[in-house]
Amino acid sequence: MSAPISATASAAPAANESGRRQILVTSALPYANGQIHIGHMVEYIQTDIWVRTLRMHGHEVYYVGADDTHGTPVMLRAEKEGITPKQLIERVWKEHKRDFDSFGISFDNYYSTDAEENRVLCNSIYTALQQAGLIEARDIEQAYDPVKEMFLPDRFIKGQCPKCGAKDQYGDNCEVCGSTYQPTELINPYSVVSGATPIRKTSTHYFFKLSDPRCETFLRGWVSGLAQPEATNKMREWLGDQGEAKLADWDISRDAPYFGFEIPGAPGKYFYVWVDAPVGYYASFKNLADRVGIDFDAWIAPGTKAEQYHFIGKDILYFHTLFWPAMLEFSGHRTPTNVFAHGFLTVDGAKMSKSRGTFITAQSVIDTGLNPEWLRYYFAAKLNSTMEDIDLNLDDFQARVNSDLVGKYVNIASRAAGFLIKRFDGRVQDSAMHHALLGQLRDAIGHIAGFYESREYGRALRTTMELADAVNAYVDTAKPWEQAKDPANAVALHETCSVSLEAFRLLSLALKPVLPKLVESVESFLGIAPLVWADAAKPLSSANAINAYKHLTTRVDPKQIEALLAANRESLQPGEQAVAPAPAKAAAKKEDASDVISIDDFAKVDLRIAKIVDCKAVEGSDKLLQLTLDVGEEKTRNVFSGIKSAYQPQDLIGKLTVMVVNLAPRKMKFGLSEGMVLAASAADEKAEPGLYILEPHGGAKPGMRVK
Ligand code: 2FM
Ligand code: ZN
Repeated sequence: MSAPISATASAAPAANESGRRQILVTSALPYANGQIHIGHMVEYIQTDIWVRTLRMHGHEVYYVGADDTHGTPVMLRAEKEGITPKQLIERVWKEHKRDFDSFGISFDNYYSTDAEENRVLCNSIYTALQQAGLIEARDIEQAYDPVKEMFLPDRFIKGQCPKCGAKDQYGDNCEVCGSTYQPTELINPYSVVSGATPIRKTSTHYFFKLSDPRCETFLRGWVSGLAQPEATNKMREWLGDQGEAKLADWDISRDAPYFGFEIPGAPGKYFYVWVDAPVGYYASFKNLADRVGIDFDAWIAPGTKAEQYHFIGKDILYFHTLFWPAMLEFSGHRTPTNVFAHGFLTVDGAKMSKSRGTFITAQSVIDTGLNPEWLRYYFAAKLNSTMEDIDLNLDDFQARVNSDLVGKYVNIASRAAGFLIKRFDGRVQDSAMHHALLGQLRDAIGHIAGFYESREYGRALRTTMELADAVNAYVDTAKPWEQAKDPANAVALHETCSVSLEAFRLLSLALKPVLPKLVESVESFLGIAPLVWADAAKPLSSANAINAYKHLTTRVDPKQIEALLAANRESLQPGEQAVAPAPAKAAAKKEDASDVISIDDFAKVDLRIAKIVDCKAVEGSDKLLQLTLDVGEEKTRNVFSGIKSAYQPQDLIGKLTVMVVNLAPRKMKFGLSEGMVLAASAADEKAEPGLYILEPHGGAKPGMRVK
């Protein structure tokens, strides 16, 4: 069944006779239980620039993605929201797609791992691995939540750190002292799902036998073609020395309840999400192939000429350089040509943080009016082919976008276009197209395209900006505004404007993979067809007039950055009140279209009748009451609410109220707040104090939906 062990990852492109390569490209599939943030975007932008670069050479390139939909977190999140996993993933898919479209991520197909193509591919890969003798069933003991009746992944177990005693630490490492340990070592462990103490329970799991000598031999060969030395070193570390047999078998099954694909011939057992996620790359491609008539089987067959590249973050290298190539190899498929890993994103030198407002969602970038292409430019300027982390320094971001894009690049067009249109009918001087400066730019384009292809985007943009400097220096020396004063200088003025504008066209070509939308406006301004690399040698011609110059981009306004941080800053700090925000702000705001929401928006808020089964003052807080609420679920909810000024705890016990149940749980100084109760207050709380929690008419029952 399996192909001969010959494949190696390979950086060398395989062109066919016409030089047209076939290239399949992916970015890691984002989980379907959260929003896309700018940390994700680094990778999608990196991949997108690469894909656009290769398309501009005329190659047959397909860039596919999908939402990574399966697993315990999606299942639990849906349950918490009171919807089915399928409803959750459908909603999140739309949000993700919207974000990718806004950032110009040019997927040829954006799909879902929860798709029939994926089920079929997973089954056939699994069956092939079974036939190759690489699947084994084994009983293992694991943490189990006796209340929720489910096995618990490590990240769903918390407890006290065995080293420093810090409370509420995850099962694998302590965020306070940094030590790592086994979940079994936690003191007073509890299930994050139900709060119960986990027990140990045995169950049969299925393993992919990565320890089989065939896998090791194959991977030792495959690793030699990896493009990144850091990745090769990591792989060598994982593989160990010859004969060391360091590779462990991989547990690929999970027990019900699990949102995923049931394993063929193993009722109640599901493929672990990390099995069907990479197969999801192929499922997305298969879905595209069937729609547009690509020979899918030929692309994924061993020995195919087609190339296959995966862009990923360095944290998931293990899955992409060990499991995935081995799965493919021993199920009779081609293996990845290469895997390109990038580093993490920090903002202003630190990990993205919700309290600082630097955990920046893609949607908030759009909402604040920041042009996503500015971020594309900034990330590109920072990216190279290594796994180094990159930093978004917000001051530097403003300075660089304003100085490079507006000051250096766009400025060239705005300076030249006016004279050309007013004095020369919008037509360039053909003889000016031979100017030495333009020769220099044309020669550089090939290098710049090469830098993009080798993922040295920073270098591509530095080179481009050096050229922009040279063009600006040329204009400063020629002084067209002086030339324009004397009609005797008309020919010289025409030359200056023509050289500038052709230089602008070439700089636009150099920037196109990074700034596709901006360059699209340039193409219509210049009245030219969509630029490809070969157009470096095809200068503007007097045969076609340019169009009137319109503003191509604006400067970053510092106020937008402030608004961005404010939009992402978590409104509640530990210990602050967790009631609904006072309506003062909404009332004070004048009504405009953006204040109106659709019924679908409203439906996102899951309001339920809640019974206050217990209510206590919170020690150390003069604002909060701690409410225990029955919302018709198996377990009660804990909510901290800033209503102490208005109520005595004992007066609330037994009362019904209205609660938002699908608000993300919030960790507060006093514990986890799992929702919010609704309370009314005056627009100006100072002038008219008073807080009134909502209470339904008689007959309402805990858990009823409010709509
Ligand atoms: O780490 C993650 O976010 C995963 N959802 C990536 C999956 S990549 C691929 F294997 F599908
Ligand atoms: Zn600790």
